[in-house]
Amino acid sequence: MWQEDAEKRLDSEGDRLKKAALITGITGQDGAYLARLLLEKGYEVYGTYRRVSTPNFWRLESLGIFGETSLIPVELADTSSIMEAVRIANPDEVYNLGAQSFVEASFEQPIATADVSGVAVTRFLETIRQMKPDTRFYQASTSEMFGSTGNYAMALSEKDILNPQSPYAAAKLYGHVITRIYRDAYDLYASSGVLFNHESPLRGLEFVTRKISNAVAKIKLGLQKELVLGNLDAKRDWGYAPEYVEAMWLMLQREKPDDYVVASGEAHSVREFVVKAFEIAGLDWQNYVVTDKRFLRPLDVDCLLGNPSKAKAQLGWSPRTRFQDLVEIMVKEDLRRWERWLAGERFSWDAPNYPSEARILTRAVRM
Ligand SMILES: NC(=O)c1ccc[n+]([C@@H]2O[C@H](COP(=O)([O-])OP(=O)(O)OC[C@H]3O[C@@H](n4cnc5c(N)ncnc54)[C@H](OP(=O)(O)O)[C@@H]3O)[C@@H](O)[C@H]2O)c1
Repeated sequence: MWQEDAEKRLDSEGDRLKKAALITGITGQDGAYLARLLLEKGYEVYGTYRRVSTPNFWRLESLGIFGETSLIPVELADTSSIMEAVRIANPDEVYNLGAQSFVEASFEQPIATADVSGVAVTRFLETIRQMKPDTRFYQASTSEMFGSTGNYAMALSEKDILNPQSPYAAAKLYGHVITRIYRDAYDLYASSGVLFNHESPLRGLEFVTRKISNAVAKIKLGLQKELVLGNLDAKRDWGYAPEYVEAMWLMLQREKPDDYVVASGEAHSVREFVVKAFEIAGLDWQNYVVTDKRFLRPLDVDCLLGNPSKAKAQLGWSPRTRFQDLVEIMVKEDLRRWERWLAGERFSWDAPNYPSEARILTRAVRM
């Protein structure tokens, strides 16, 4: 089956007609936006998803690309499934976005996080080195690797010291360093994007920005009474996810691999996000928001602010959506969703039965 797929990408001379990309974590926020971008650019897009009892394809569906990608079940803790995915996709580019990506959960599941968000990067690099060393590899690194700087005005760049404050950030630091080591030791084309927080209506509900936008929409429509949050003073550099996946692609189009910080260059507090979100809905946040110590992290990063100068100069990448517009996009989309829900509409993520047009490629297909 995948041999046929690979052959479809060849012309009569045996040259490739289409580039193939393999995206791990295609069911996540960035995976879905990146898949859409690469399809628009004419790529053959393969994505990996986790085999679970109720598959999680709602983001691909909401972008209208569910049937346009080829899906391969991969568990990042399992080397053989990674090898199989590389064999099936025969990719020109791999974007390793799959991870246990939630900082709080990494304190609850530190070992699984180390494996899936850290060691799995070596599984991929080693698979590529042995099976297809001309593949270009993108690693999803994170601003959380910087940890606390104690300096609110310091905009962090590629040269700043990395000092993780969570099991998630520690795992990502391992992935970041091993990517550089494979680049230097084996001459692999392997780049890391050190991305600062980026959000969208496709963000998971456990992340604070989406937790806020979703709660504001429900409160506005009488479906929820209050919003419980942890640290309102934490500051983050928030950007718009569809623009950040453009930077990922641009990194792999450079002549030489390298690492890049991708950020908006502005930091705002959780409190600012809350105030703006309630304001957009015409509500006073102080009537609805309560704080609870149970939502505080055992160790927190007070402020993260990025300096994207290198990405601007070398990739020609710049953020376009400002903080206020980002909050508005998220609140308005959640309001729209809940209004549709109140009107009786039910969404794909309510229903376990997914449409049959998905092209799911597994070992079983070969038999
Ligand atoms: N968004 C940000 O602000 C940000 C900033 C810096 C770096 N990053 C990194 O960028 C990447 C993409 O971020 P995101 O926001 O799109 O994250 P996300 O929405 O949490 O998506 C993570 C993806 O990884 C998959 N995954 C998790 N554990 C897995 C496992 N054991 N085996 C196979 N797949 C697994 C998830 O599958 P399920 O759908 O089944 O859960 C999901 O598809 C992540 O590596 C994240 O750490 C994100």
